[in-house]
Amino acid sequence: MTSFSHAHTDKDLKRLRQFLAETLKKSGLQIPGQAADGMQLLNLACGRADETEVLADVFGSESDSIHLTGIDIRTREIGEARERWKKLPSKVSADFLVQDASQLDRLKQLNNEFDIAFMRHQNFWNGDTTWTKIYDEALHRLDDDGLLVITSYFDHEHRLALDAIQGLGAELVCSERNSDSRIITDAPNKSVDRHLAIFRKP
Ligand SMILES: C[S@@+](CC[C@H](N)C(=O)[O-])C[C@H]1O[C@@H](n2cnc3c(N)ncnc32)[C@H](O)[C@@H]1O
Repeated sequence: MTSFSHAHTDKDLKRLRQFLAETLKKSGLQIPGQAADGMQLLNLACGRADETEVLADVFGSESDSIHLTGIDIRTREIGEARERWKKLPSKVSADFLVQDASQLDRLKQLNNEFDIAFMRHQNFWNGDTTWTKIYDEALHRLDDDGLLVITSYFDHEHRLALDAIQGLGAELVCSERNSDSRIITDAPNKSVDRHLAIFRKP
């Protein structure tokens, strides 16, 4: 079903699938959204949304249906996501929207009842005010038992994000370092899905 534009993507996604599943299990949390009306997942700053199928499988394994809403500010990446995920398994549906995720209140079609808000490779170092706003929007879009899940490339950036999200009132459930994360050779101390953290509403 999928072909990716980068050679490493398949293996990176395999590792993400395992890391996500293991961390969720370790957290002891019940994945929300298992009710008959299905799961709603918000993938913020999703870029090409390579991880769409992984998210549907890991978070939606016990759900009858799962809907993913991917949002990114870049038109080209969203175009690629739409093209790649035109066909999905019958219980999965997805929308990909070009939108500034720090201004989700402008998106009238978005409800406030997401079970999961996910953000892969958040970019806190690249504008702390914008990213704090994106985290805030994500928390506001969650159901009471919803979860916010982030991954990070860098140690320092991850710590900044943990502080910012807890500063917004979310409870850090767990944060794990991925020992199997692929090192990015041209960027010192950066690796793919290096850290993963799960938060819930207080
Ligand atoms: C490091 S990339 C991660 C992309 C994707 N999640 C991944 O892991 O491949 C960060 C993404 O944040 C997006 N982004 C930056 N600011 C944004 C904003 N205000 N609203 C929505 N997306 C934004 C960028 O366009 C980019 O796709």
